[in-house]
Parts: sequence; C-alpha cells; structure tokens
Amino acid sequence: MKLPLALLGLSVVQNACHVLAVPLDTWSSRSGASSQAVDMFNTAIEWNDKYWDDQAGYLITSTSSSGRYDTRHSAWYATQLLARNAPGDVDKAVRIFDNVIGGQYLDPSKQWYGDYQHAPSEPEPGTLKYPDDGPYSSWDPNIRDFVGCAWIVALADYGHLLPAATVTKVEKSLHIAAKGDLYRVGGVDGDNSYPCYSNPWLMRTILQNWVGARVGDANLTKSGENFAQEIYDLWSMHHTLSEFNSPTYAGVAMWALTLWEQYGTSGSLLKKYGPDMLTASWNELGQLYNANLKNLAGPWDRSYGYDMNQYASLVGAVIWGVIGREKAPVPQQDLGMYHQDDFAFFPLFALSMPVMIKYLPAKAKANLLQFPGEHLYTSQAFSPPFDTYPRNITAWMSKDVTIGAETVAETVIGGPSINPSQFSPAVIQWAIDENQIGCIAHWVTESSIDAVAAPGSLKISYPNATARNGPVSFNFLFSGLDLGNGMNVTGLEDLPGLDLQISTNALPNYTITYNTDHSVNEFVFYNVTYTMPETFTETPYVSLEIV
Ligand SMILES: *[C@@H]1O[C@H](CO)[C@@H](O)[C@H](O)[C@H]1NC(C)=O
Ligand SMILES: *[C@@H]1O[C@H](CO)[C@@H](O)[C@H](O)[C@H]1NC(C)=O
Ligand SMILES: *[C@@H]1O[C@H](CO)[C@@H](O)[C@H](O)[C@H]1NC(C)=O
Ligand SMILES: *[C@@H]1O[C@H](CO)[C@@H](O)[C@H](O)[C@H]1NC(C)=O
Ligand SMILES: *[C@@H]1O[C@H](CO)[C@@H](O)[C@H](O)[C@H]1NC(C)=O
Ligand SMILES: *[C@@H]1O[C@H](CO)[C@@H](O)[C@H](O)[C@H]1NC(C)=O
Repeated sequence: MKLPLALLGLSVVQNACHVLAVPLDTWSSRSGASSQAVDMFNTAIEWNDKYWDDQAGYLITSTSSSGRYDTRHSAWYATQLLARNAPGDVDKAVRIFDNVIGGQYLDPSKQWYGDYQHAPSEPEPGTLKYPDDGPYSSWDPNIRDFVGCAWIVALADYGHLLPAATVTKVEKSLHIAAKGDLYRVGGVDGDNSYPCYSNPWLMRTILQNWVGARVGDANLTKSGENFAQEIYDLWSMHHTLSEFNSPTYAGVAMWALTLWEQYGTSGSLLKKYGPDMLTASWNELGQLYNANLKNLAGPWDRSYGYDMNQYASLVGAVIWGVIGREKAPVPQQDLGMYHQDDFAFFPLFALSMPVMIKYLPAKAKANLLQFPGEHLYTSQAFSPPFDTYPRNITAWMSKDVTIGAETVAETVIGGPSINPSQFSPAVIQWAIDENQIGCIAHWVTESSIDAVAAPGSLKISYPNATARNGPVSFNFLFSGLDLGNGMNVTGLEDLPGLDLQISTNALPNYTITYNTDHSVNEFVFYNVTYTMPETFTETPYVSLEIV
C-alpha cells in the first residue's frame, strides 16, 4: 500500500501547483465550461502527456498499430496543448504541426492525396514495400477529417498563440487535406464515403465549409453545402443518423455537429441543419441510455465493446462532459481501459462541451442522471447503398434489463462497415449484480436478419437463410461475468441475474466455448451457438424470453 499512497500524495502536490500556475484566462473560463468538462479535459490531456516523447515530438502510440508514434493522436494533442497553454505547451504544439505536416501525402495523382500518415515511420503507400490495398490499409482516408477538424479548432480559437508562419503552414495543409477529401466518392476505387457513413461525413462537411472560407476556395465551400444537404436529406427520412446508436461514433457525430455550430460559416446550411440533428441525437441518447446500467442499449450499428464501463467510448465522453466521470458510462480507472485509444480524443470533446450542451433538452439530461422508467423505443434508420430497405429498430428499456434489436436486409454481412465485431443488431444487457453488466450480443453471420425486441423478449430470424449453402447458425456472445463463478455457465438459460427461456427450430444441442485466444474488442466471452439441421424448410429462428 505504501507506493500508491506516496503516488497519491505526489499528485495532490502537483495539482496544487497546477492551481497556482493556471493563468486566469483559460479556455474554460472563456467558454464557460462546466467543472465536468474541465475535469475531463485535464484528466485526458494528462493521460496524453504520459505518452509524449519529447525527443521525437510525437505521442507514442497507445496501441501497437502502424509504428512507434501516433500521428492522429499527436495532431489532436497539438490543439489540446494550445488550449491548455501551460509553459512549453505552445512550443510542443508547433513541433507537432511541423512533424505531422511533414508526413502529409502531397502527390495529387494519388487517392491518398492530402491524407496524413498513421505513423511517421510509414513509407509512401502504393509502393512495393508498402502496397496499397485500398482505403483503411496502408492509409486511412478518415485521418484527413480527424486531423482537419482538430486543427480547425486550433486555428479558429488558438491561432493567436502561434507564429504567423505556423498558421500559414497549417492553413496550407488543411487546404490540401480538404482538396484530397474531395477525391472520395462512395463506391469508386473502394471508397465508402457515403452520407450514411455518418461520422466522417459530418466531419468532412465542416472541413470543406471552414477551410473553403478560410482560404477562399469556393469549390470547397460549395462542397460543404452539398454535403450538409445530402446528409440532412438522409437524416430527415427518420430523424436518425444512419450510423445509428453507436457508442463510439454517435459521439463523434455529436462532436462534428457541434463543430458545425461552432465554426460553420454564418448563413451556411451547416448552421441551419446542425442544431436539429444535434438535438435529435441528444433525445435519442436520452431514450436509449440506461442510467442504472450506465450503458447505451442496443442495437449498435458499430460498437467497440459490450459494457461501456469497461471501454473508452466517445458517447461516454459526451456524458462525462455533462454529468461527470463517476456517473458516466466510462471506465473509472485510467489504466486498463479497453479501446483506450479513444481517450486521447476526450479533451477535444471537453472543448466543445459548452456549445454541445446548449442543445441538450432538459428531459434528455434528466434521463442521463436517472433512468426514467420502463419504456419502448422504436425508430428507423437507413444506410443506402447497403440497406435494401430502412432498418426497423426496437428497444425495450427496463430498470435492470435492456433489449435492443433491428431488422436488416443488407447487401453485406456485418453492417456497412462489413465488420461483425462492430455490428450488433441484437443485444441484451442486464445487471448481473450491483457491479457487473452482462451482455448477450448476437454475432452476425447473415445479411438479412429480423431481430425484434419487445418487453422481456428478443426474437431473431433469418428470412433469407434458406437460399444459402453451408451451416446456418445463431451465435451469441455472452460477456460480463468477470467475478463470481464462471464454472457454472452452461448456456443461455441459466445465466446469473437473467432467467431466459430459449425456443428455436435449430438443433437443441448448442455448443458453448470460452475461448481466451479469441477475444472480440478485447472482451473475452462465452460463445453459445445454435446450428440449424443440415436441411430445413422453415425460416430459422431463435426466441429468447425472460421468464
Ligand atoms: C470541386 O468539388 C467537387 C466535389 O464537391 C469535386 O468533384 C471537384 O473535383 C472539385 N473541383 C476542383 C477543381 O477541385
Ligand atoms: C419496418 O416497419 C415498417 C412499418 O411498420 C414496415 O412497413 C416494414 O415492412 C418493416 N420492415 C421490416 C424489414 O420489417
Ligand atoms: C438473400 O440471399 C441471396 C442468396 O444467398 C443473396 O444473393 C441476396 O443478396 C440475399 N438478400 C438479402 C437482402 O440479404
Ligand atoms: C455454482 O454452482 C455450485 C454448485 O451448484 C453452487 O454451490 C454455487 O453457489 C454456484 N456459484 C455461483 C456463483 O452461482
Ligand atoms: C447435435 O445433434 C445432431 C443431430 O443428432 C448431430 O448431428 C450433431 O453432431 C450434434 N452437434 C453437437 C455439437 O453435438
Ligand atoms: C462461435 O462459435 C461458433 C461455433 O464453434 C463459430 O463458428 C464462431 O466463429 C464463433 N464465433 C466467434 C465470434 O468466435
């Protein structure tokens, strides 16, 4: 116990110094940020500080990805350093701008024109030593948006802290990034930039709008208007973003929509449409959030985990910014978070929080603090060209169990991101006990799934499975029993804290495995799989009823 106490004492002393050293004119005093937002900013920037390599002028990667250093995190950190503006921070930011811009791809004949490296050690993509296998391989087209949006904040709010030469350099870099972003056309050359890819689409829109105005490039400004109209038209069908209810990306979308309001040019469509979409995002969050479980109920179009209390998510950041860390769906420890990479982004959320919460309806805010009582939620969302028709979303929200589902008929398996580890169209979450959240997530193996939630029930069927060859199965991942007796888990029907009855036309002899070699999103799980007989004529179904 001695070491932690000593460390604790040290950090108290450091904090006391901070308080004395903090200039009166801080980002938080200027923006009127809440204590929750300030706490989030400080906690997460200090986490980033620990990854800073002063020799290199980059943040060390917090995952082992493309190299030792992380370009995107470093770019985010530059803006954060300017906002904090403690002694030495501006100099560090200037070094980061130089370093990151030094790794921008400048050949206009390449698809990755204007993009930034994942890591400074990376060779040019599309070479023999580093072949280009399309977007998200040797280059990630979204890095333009993530870096670009962070740097809009840097120039717009903190540009006065920077040498004029740096300002010019960053402007030029953003201009190239925005022009390169226009190379993206969904469906062409493996690109997936459609309005249904909500989070980068919302970011590219403000990138085009803001950079267009800043450098006087009318084509960018016009593109920003077109992009705003396109996503608003799609959103208007059901008043939902297509990347629906994603614990990570719904947060990115809310951040980007806040940037529309903060930095969009006056009279633009961004200013006109942003508030509607942001308010609706808050309301949806208020309906699908369970403050008892501290989780967003399913279905999740894209998720990086199965219990938000264990992994860093950006909806978690949004909620922390409103009600504070302790009550928010975020890990309470800075070490050992799953998906910890996203923690590097949290300070930027803090900076936008004062504007974001202007659009938070009182009722939605109340629901973040206290579960409002049992209710049903239904909605629709549409992701062309992947959906053949709009998805129907149903969720049953009760005090300590939530069931969320959606019917999908898509051209791909695993949602528009074509990734079964992210796409969870049917989810049950419940309180195993006071501290543990159980989760059963349906693992998709089909492109057409009818999944419907109702009070105490989840029904899943495969309307298009009979046409397929090969085994047809229902895979369920159960996670969350981290303490207590895992030896007693034998299937879905006797899980702790949840009394389920299964009916199915699959074979009754399901398999159950606990495979520590195969975690999904860092979560270890029991895999309970029901398989259809080799030949069948009925539509395959499984029904899970709480008894
Ligand atoms: C102008 O923007 C559009 C996309 O909005 C793009 O297709 C076109 O190539 C751009 N033109 C120039 C000259 O950059
Ligand atoms: C979704 O619900 C609508 C309205 O009830 C219905 O018309 C449509 O057929 C449903 N779609 C699916 C895939 O079940
Ligand atoms: C239905 O199944 C067929 C055969 O596997 C497939 O070609 C088609 O894309 C599927 N349709 C949908 C909407 O899932
Ligand atoms: C596991 O099963 C044993 C034997 O039935 C029982 O005594 C024990 O209480 C169970 N443990 C838990 C955590 O349910
Ligand atoms: C389940 O039962 C079927 C039919 O009796 C059999 O063919 C199959 O091998 C069994 N599967 C498992 C996993 O035991
Ligand atoms: C779950 O188990 C089934 C049957 O063994 C297997 O086919 C499937 O790939 C497993 N799913 C995951 C996510 O591990």
